[in-house]
Amino acid sequence: MRLSSRLPGLEPNALSAALATLRAEGREVLDLTGSNPTCCGFSYPEAEILAALAAPAVLAYDPDARGSASARAAIASHHGHGLRADDLLLTASTSEAYGLLFKLLGDPGDEVLVPSPSYPLFEWLARLEGLVARPVQSYFHDRWHLDLGALEASVTERTRAVVVVNPNNPTGHFLSQSEWTALTGLCARRGLALLVDEVFADYALEPPADRLATALLDPTPPCPVFVLSGLSKVAILPQVKLGWIAARGPDAAASLESLAFLADQYLSVSASAQAAAPALLALALALQEQVRTRLHTNLATLDRLLAGLPHLSRLPVEGGWSALLRRPAVDSDQAFAQRLLETRGVLVHPGSFFDLPGDGHLVLSLLTPPNRFGQGLAALLEALRP
Ligand SMILES: Cc1ncc(COP(=O)(O)O)c(C=O)c1O
Repeated sequence: MRLSSRLPGLEPNALSAALATLRAEGREVLDLTGSNPTCCGFSYPEAEILAALAAPAVLAYDPDARGSASARAAIASHHGHGLRADDLLLTASTSEAYGLLFKLLGDPGDEVLVPSPSYPLFEWLARLEGLVARPVQSYFHDRWHLDLGALEASVTERTRAVVVVNPNNPTGHFLSQSEWTALTGLCARRGLALLVDEVFADYALEPPADRLATALLDPTPPCPVFVLSGLSKVAILPQVKLGWIAARGPDAAASLESLAFLADQYLSVSASAQAAAPALLALALALQEQVRTRLHTNLATLDRLLAGLPHLSRLPVEGGWSALLRRPAVDSDQAFAQRLLETRGVLVHPGSFFDLPGDGHLVLSLLTPPNRFGQGLAALLEALRP
């Protein structure tokens, strides 16, 4: 049987293979990469969550391709900024939202531009829809910046959209107000849509004054804008499987109509997720507060342990759940991460997993339970001793 060329080879990367070996041997791993909030020791209001998911409405099948009006109204009011239920379409996850948008915007072989470094899933999400995700390198100068000249120069007649993450994963970079103006102007000029993934927008840690806190602050962008988010980060409930797309700018109503046609082919959002959305969003602020406290605690630990180690530093964490640790690039980050795992049982991600340019960056999850974070970090810094 011949399988689609869109699929990857099945070889695991060397780090995943080493991790599988360690776990098969029953060795303890100090994992500093975890991003599953349900495994990070947060205190969830279990009774309320279970009650929300068991609402009587889940007994009826009453499909609406855009998602139930009550869930959309709750999401619109949660976001504010003049968002209306009619501006939204529900999906089973943010990842699924990308799939629908790529189907909406491109034909096979078309391209989307993705400022890099960024979340590695885009390459696959685009490829599975027959599109090509073209990375365009951002640059670091005191903070991360989009290379707007390089973005414009990368536009071809096959380019359909630009995808940005605000704040970005794993660099934590928020778009600045001026980047927003330039980016939406570029997209308008070149006939492109702009996808803005804001799953981490609630997690500003060291936000710069000129940041664009959310693309929803712009009610009338000059290009079509699709803002993506979901309960997976907003309410740290990835297992509920509820995401959404907010459409703004030219042709938003027509885009939503076509997205509804696409969503209608799957109707993948469960009745329980939709019925529970208003109650779960009401719990979101308290859950986010726990996460923000965790992120600040781990960042403070990182700074404390880095003090007096001039060969190491961290980049600013404007927002999000990750910190980038800079180390002397005496060997490849991938080789270092593998050695660290095999010799000390500590798991970190090499920067290359997120297309950080060159070597010298390790990615740490600030969501890690503080004890494990402190212990793993101490072992990591020991391994990085010159
Ligand atoms: C930037 C970004 N977008 C989207 C997702 C996926 O979110 P969801 O669970 O809603 O598919 C993630 C998951 O980590 C992410 O980091």
